[in-house]
Amino acid sequence: MNVFLVGAGPGDEGLITVKGLDLIKKADIIIYDDLVGKNLLKYSKEDAELIYVGKRKGKHSHKQEEINNILVEKAKDAIANNKIVVRLKGGDSFIFGRGGEEVLELKKHNIDYEMVPGITSSIAVPEVSDIPLTHRKVATSFTVVTGHEAEDKKENEKQVKLSELNANTIVILMGITNLENHVMELLKNQNRTVDTPVAIIMNGTRPDQKIIKGNLGNIVNIAKENNIAPPGIIVVGDVVNVLE
Ligand SMILES: C[S@@+](CC[C@H](N)C(=O)[O-])C[C@H]1O[C@@H](n2cnc3c(N)ncnc32)[C@H](O)[C@@H]1O
Repeated sequence: MNVFLVGAGPGDEGLITVKGLDLIKKADIIIYDDLVGKNLLKYSKEDAELIYVGKRKGKHSHKQEEINNILVEKAKDAIANNKIVVRLKGGDSFIFGRGGEEVLELKKHNIDYEMVPGITSSIAVPEVSDIPLTHRKVATSFTVVTGHEAEDKKENEKQVKLSELNANTIVILMGITNLENHVMELLKNQNRTVDTPVAIIMNGTRPDQKIIKGNLGNIVNIAKENNIAPPGIIVVGDVVNVLE
């Protein structure tokens, strides 16, 4: 196999799989995203080609089409010249990582690939912050949603309706920029009140991790006071305080 889509985990370099790290060490070409822990790249071969294709707001943004083209071109090169290409993505490639779109592109060009799962930030970041997403008698279900649906979707095409979500624990990725709206939507659900606990974890599992806690009534102000900015994960529900 020449082409691997590898989940890099949530940021702490120790939170990648053994298989993922082994591939980073062997790779001739690594195509990596913003949220990939930079420390992981130090394990790459000295002559490996490292290609950054980040999409962070405010910096040069690589369009998905551009990333797909680079991946296909490098995959073809790897197959022709017996190299290894690793597409390294933050967390897990198939959780809001657009990994599926990249796989479809590889399939379109009849390119074989292997998926190497990663630890998704949606679970790991709350966990290292002492927030279990489920806890007996407190939460028997959780839902992970995006706070930022595709920009080309019209209002009536949006799939995430926070007011209608009834899982005990709600985890929102990419939700920091629109926090105020999310809080308003969450409060429309009769099972939640201004006292419903909320935590936000910014830069989870990294040395600069920051966590704030409050409730639906005050979290917007607490986030402003603490300069909370992406990347961050919002956790809503009683599990937020269950281990205190
Ligand atoms: C495009 S999604 C990719 C998610 C990734 N595929 C995963 O499984 O973790 C990016 C979002 O994941 C969340 N995220 C990823 N890493 C994070 C971290 N270390 N700390 C906090 N949030 C993180 C943030 O909500 C960020 O905006």
